[in-house]
Amino acid sequence: MRASAKSFAKINIGLAIGPKRPDGFHGLRTLYTTIALHDTVHVEVIDGKGIEVRCDHPEVPRDASNTCYKAAERVLAAVGKTAGVRITIDKRLPVQGGLGAGSSNAISTIFCLEKALKMPLESAKRAQIAADIGSDLNLFLYGGLVLGTGRGEEVWPLEDLPSIPLVVVTPEVGVSTPKAFQSWDSLTENEGSDTIKTFNQAVYAWLNSTAVSGVPAVGGDRVETLLLDLVRTGISNDFERVVFPEIPVLREVKCALEREGAAYAAMSGSGSTLYGLFRTPQEAQQAAQRLSAAGMRAVATRTLPRSEYWAGMFESSH
Ligand code: C5P
Repeated sequence: MRASAKSFAKINIGLAIGPKRPDGFHGLRTLYTTIALHDTVHVEVIDGKGIEVRCDHPEVPRDASNTCYKAAERVLAAVGKTAGVRITIDKRLPVQGGLGAGSSNAISTIFCLEKALKMPLESAKRAQIAADIGSDLNLFLYGGLVLGTGRGEEVWPLEDLPSIPLVVVTPEVGVSTPKAFQSWDSLTENEGSDTIKTFNQAVYAWLNSTAVSGVPAVGGDRVETLLLDLVRTGISNDFERVVFPEIPVLREVKCALEREGAAYAAMSGSGSTLYGLFRTPQEAQQAAQRLSAAGMRAVATRTLPRSEYWAGMFESSH
């Protein structure tokens, strides 16, 4: 009774932060897309009871604060089952990196435990468990291109776009999301912020233009550039305004991606991961090689459309 799944990462394409809500969270708008980089999570149902988390990465907690632990605990409660659960995380994605790895690991745990127990959850229950654990788990219940609203947990899958090449750079430093939100509050305390409005307008205009032109009806080049059309609307990540001054090297990485020819470069989530979108896989490969030669941890990958996200999830890992 065991199951394994790939936990794919996400990047944020634009992220607009609103005011702090009475519940302490911030309203936000963002576009998430899954990418082809992944961890792998193995879940075993064993005799006895208790949840054990194994991971050889020193910064991954193995206690009840681990997102996979929380996920397993909630799935067992939801199906009314007492069992021992052993979760092993093969960690390749950065910790506190803005790629949603901990969130994706938790979603893999939910799917694997349902499979191992042969007790599927209703999708509404799964969504509730996900939102209960954190704000950016729910996107992984869809994969592909997803609009995030609310505190990020309200997710709206958008029509899939073709995969686009990208380079991901993961600096050594991690960023604490709650601290980044606090810095945003201090920054906007007096001046306020209306980036949510700007984001809404940009995304709405983009959705409208893709709907009007009709994705299938237009030529290859146009389809390839849909995501680039989106970033050309000027959407950006508010977190850059607070994280770059605190960790100046991140701004340098963004500039380096731009110098290497990225059509768009930005930080993902609250960082510290930066990414650049490229027009061809070759350009992305070359940029990653040159950035690696300059001492950065850079890897060429691509965005992962929804169909591939699901097809790849339970494929055996190598
Ligand atoms: O939901 P998640 O675990 O990702 O959030 C971590 C922390 O980040 C929250 O406890 C909260 O302080 C902050 N946060 C926020 N607004 C959001 C998401 C997260 O203030 N929309």
